[in-house]
Amino acid sequence: MNGFVVLCLLLAGPVLLLVAASPVYKHGNGTAPVPVVLWHGMGDSCCNPISMGQIKKMIEEEIPGIYVLSLMIGKNIIEDMENGFFMDVNHQVSTACSQLAQNPKLKGGYNAMGFSQGAQFLRAVAQRCPSPPMKNLLSIGGQHQGVYGLPRCPGESVQICNAIRHALNQGVYSDFVQEHLVQAQYWHDPLNDDLYKNKSLFLADINQERAVNETYKKNLQLLENFIMVKFLQDTVVDPVDSEWFGFLKTGQAKETETLQESVLYKEDRLGLAAMDKAGKLVFLASDGDHLQFTREWFIAKLLPYLH
Ligand SMILES: *[C@@H]1O[C@H](CO)[C@@H](O)[C@H](O)[C@H]1NC(C)=O
Ligand SMILES: *[C@@H]1O[C@H](CO)[C@@H](O)[C@H](O)[C@H]1NC(C)=O
Ligand SMILES: *[C@@H]1O[C@H](CO)[C@@H](O)[C@H](O)[C@H]1NC(C)=O
Repeated sequence: MNGFVVLCLLLAGPVLLLVAASPVYKHGNGTAPVPVVLWHGMGDSCCNPISMGQIKKMIEEEIPGIYVLSLMIGKNIIEDMENGFFMDVNHQVSTACSQLAQNPKLKGGYNAMGFSQGAQFLRAVAQRCPSPPMKNLLSIGGQHQGVYGLPRCPGESVQICNAIRHALNQGVYSDFVQEHLVQAQYWHDPLNDDLYKNKSLFLADINQERAVNETYKKNLQLLENFIMVKFLQDTVVDPVDSEWFGFLKTGQAKETETLQESVLYKEDRLGLAAMDKAGKLVFLASDGDHLQFTREWFIAKLLPYLH
């Protein structure tokens, strides 16, 4: 959910800083590298020099000549950060779609990399906006089945998070809270499944909980790969299974199920089973807390998908 931890790690991780030698991928006959689009997490912004800024720089160093766009939702960095809490997600997604469509550098397609909530937002972009084409979708600690809990908050936004918890308790599926609180839009209450399916403005829609939208299914399957990274020591995302598209079993809040065990997969409402069979779903793990990884890990596991 937050990009804050990423940067702690990026700054603090000695491995990251020590790894200097890395394979430089050559684009032998002069074809330009595929551009990358980033979408930050909760409490972060497009251009924070110690989070998305650092990631952008790292990608540019590893793939010379690459174009990296870090999405800004709003007119400036402050708005961008606030919108990550308060701007209707469907509106954010359509804003992102028009930015991508209007950018001439992305015409030939792009790879997308979403951090925390930015990952499920970019999946919505893939499902709703097939042009320009997204090639690979890299989900870094995304919550594809939502969250049922907000155990920890980005350091700088404790007060915002307390206010959010209060609002969630007041009635997460009320129209008012749904319309005004981003985290409510991917709140998934397994004890009130009907209510979630009926009222969730964002997640229940992109996860085909109501009617199946065949366009979503078709568009998602256009991806070359859908890579999901789970953080094995994650203390932010609850339940962490959501990072691999798993969740709590309906009707209780203890036992979890994997994507493959879910109705979504068994009925293949979103095309994920088909993608799995085609080898397009990639499940990766990083042995750290939320959004924590080293440069070495990034190069070994994720960089190959950016070529
Ligand atoms: C570069 O090589 C690829 C595959 O070998 C080929 O499809 C492509 O057309 C080439 N591009 C240029 C600009 O020569
Ligand atoms: C399905 O999704 C597409 C793309 O977002 C949208 O244009 C269309 O209205 C949706 N169809 C239904 C029935 O919701
Ligand atoms: C959900 O919607 C269905 C169909 O409109 C309705 O029958 C049901 O009572 C609703 N459930 C809740 C909990 O809102």
